[in-house]
Amino acid sequence: SRASVRRICEVLDEHPDIASPENPVETVADGSVEFKDVCFSYSKGNGNFVLSDISFSIKPGQTVGIIGGTGSSKTTLVNLIPRLYDASSGEVLAGGKNVREYSLKALRNSVAVVLQKNVLFSGTIKENLLWGNANASDEEIAAACRAADAADFILSFPEKYDTVLGQGGVNLSGGQKQRLCIARALLKNPKILILDDSTSAVDTATEKRIRDALRKLCPDTTKIIIAQRICSVKDADCIFVLDDGKIIGLGTHEELLQTNTIYREVNESQQTMGDADVV
Ligand SMILES: Nc1ncnc2c1ncn2[C@@H]1O[C@H](COP(=O)(O)OP(=O)(O)O)[C@@H](O)[C@H]1O
Ligand SMILES: [Mg+2]
Repeated sequence: SRASVRRICEVLDEHPDIASPENPVETVADGSVEFKDVCFSYSKGNGNFVLSDISFSIKPGQTVGIIGGTGSSKTTLVNLIPRLYDASSGEVLAGGKNVREYSLKALRNSVAVVLQKNVLFSGTIKENLLWGNANASDEEIAAACRAADAADFILSFPEKYDTVLGQGGVNLSGGQKQRLCIARALLKNPKILILDDSTSAVDTATEKRIRDALRKLCPDTTKIIIAQRICSVKDADCIFVLDDGKIIGLGTHEELLQTNTIYREVNESQQTMGDADVV
């Protein structure tokens, strides 16, 4: 037990590398996001960059899709926005200011991230949703669940929002869990919403309903959607094609079909596969 105590104390004494600055800015003005010549390496010192020369600018309320193979640094790129890591060089801006100028609390309250696998707690559906915003009213909860296409399945349970979830939400399907997590993120009323492969377990029709509802419910929220399927990002205002940590294509679906060979090939291969993939 002494060994355990020592280890626990080490963890408690650990100081995070990333901290709020002195005199931090406490509000993120809007959902704009800008990267200026951003490079990033997980290991300080050696030049093994997993992101290189990333520059782009997203206006508040826009929907941006990110497409790229496994390991192309999609997750790494979006993790720089809520400052899970700091860029090695270059600048990351949100709401017109460098993310390093904000208090971490203000920044992370404005940026909601939904992952492919998220944590649900044992407790009721409502308790899980309130984790996103402890002060949300029943109406706000219902609206968020409708936008995430979760309301119907929740209401089909006898106990509805008071349905008790097992540890990790074991009594829900993968797609239902994902939709609850999206609803929970929406309750934060974020300026920037990042969906990192978070609709991979819902069918394409449900996914489209979620995208349409998001557009209606939160028109001012910037939406960044990372996806494997091109149909998930087809109607985005702009799509980034990422390969090996670099943006190798940028434009709307139609533009990329014209100008980007890789995008066109991925699109063709997914068309022939049909929609029968991941469900
Ligand atoms: N925490 C980490 N520490 C070190 N390397 C990492 C870490 N996370 C990801 N990587 C590496 O960074 C690269 C990009 O990973 P990632 O951003 O997760 O890609 P994607 O989300 O596109 O699949 C990969 O080579 C991966 O091995
Ligand atoms: Mg990823």
